[in-house]
Amino acid sequence: MDLFYIITSVCLSVCVIYCLYIFVWFIIACIADCDVVTFLSEHFGKSPANEFNGKVFWITGASSGIGEALAKNLALCNARLVISARRKDQLVRVKEECLALNAKLEDKDILVLDFDMLDYSVHDSSFQKVLKHFGKLDLLISNAGRSQRASWQNIEIEVDRNMFDLNVFSLINLNRIAVRYFFKSGNAGGLAIISSIAGVIGAPDCGSYTGAKHALHGYFESLRNETRDRNIAITMLCPGPVFSDIVRESFTSKQGEKVNDVYSSKERNMTANRCAHLCLVAIANKLEESWQALFPLIIATYFLRNHSFLLSKLMSLVDVKKFAAVIRGSRCYRLNED
Ligand SMILES: NC(=O)c1ccc[n+]([C@@H]2O[C@H](COP(=O)([O-])OP(=O)(O)OC[C@H]3O[C@@H](n4cnc5c(N)ncnc54)[C@H](OP(=O)(O)O)[C@@H]3O)[C@@H](O)[C@H]2O)c1
Repeated sequence: MDLFYIITSVCLSVCVIYCLYIFVWFIIACIADCDVVTFLSEHFGKSPANEFNGKVFWITGASSGIGEALAKNLALCNARLVISARRKDQLVRVKEECLALNAKLEDKDILVLDFDMLDYSVHDSSFQKVLKHFGKLDLLISNAGRSQRASWQNIEIEVDRNMFDLNVFSLINLNRIAVRYFFKSGNAGGLAIISSIAGVIGAPDCGSYTGAKHALHGYFESLRNETRDRNIAITMLCPGPVFSDIVRESFTSKQGEKVNDVYSSKERNMTANRCAHLCLVAIANKLEESWQALFPLIIATYFLRNHSFLLSKLMSLVDVKKFAAVIRGSRCYRLNED
């Protein structure tokens, strides 16, 4: 066998293996309702039920939607819970439903903390209440937030400020308290942040929301690189459209206004329960970033986040708003602004 033959065979084998890898990766990205690493973790990685038994989780925004589903999934894993939001009656309902799901959990295993995330003055005292009740915190899931429907050029600057206040600064303040606690206690805890696919690519008709979710990735990437030696697990969770109350509570372009609409049952959205399960798989496997969305948003996100020259030229030929509406099986939102 001459050298030329050996080199050609090795190169061909590498090419075949690489093509096979890309092919398998592409197929998974097309059939899965999450990114490829989350998909593999769900099937071959650590299971939330084994990892979270007895751990103390704090979920903000647990009175409805994804937060409520996270609480219920964690209750089934025998985790102890702190559930917070503004509506105490809804938190009490979620607590009762969690206790009904798992007879092993007792009343003291779920702490209800009703407070407004925008009231920064109670963040520290709320954190102390958690430590007093459970003696520790293992993982903070920052989920409370609001979305938006608005044309970029019409958004009042006060709406941008209000959006960042809730979706970024309130959350950063609470996470700083948690990080200081992890440092002081030596507890290698974790932080999970509910971002959005809009935190990875630019979503149309929600400029302030997209800006706020992108900002979270910057804040937490910085923290990750500052604390690599501390073993604090940071997981950015990025759902696509999920059935919840989010549209009703969404900001518009005008200060003080809400969209006051609901997702139509015909839209191609994920259920909050499936989204919560995938989020917990990502946290259990300490993934740095995880996406949860129905086809074809996952494969589209892989392509769009690469910002290639060719892709950006192709995108200029596409009506992105209509394309997004087709993907979601929804009407193209009519924004009654002008
Ligand atoms: N649904 C989606 O399509 C989707 C997609 C991507 C990302 N997300 C993200 O997922 C997270 C949860 O949204 P969701 O879809 O589950 O919507 P949701 O059902 O409207 O839940 C939002 C939660 O945030 C809480 N909240 C809102 N303002 C608050 C405040 N000032 N202080 C304390 N809690 C507050 C709400 O509780 P109270 O009203 O009782 O305070 C509620 O529990 C958000 O961060 C959202 O950006 C959602």
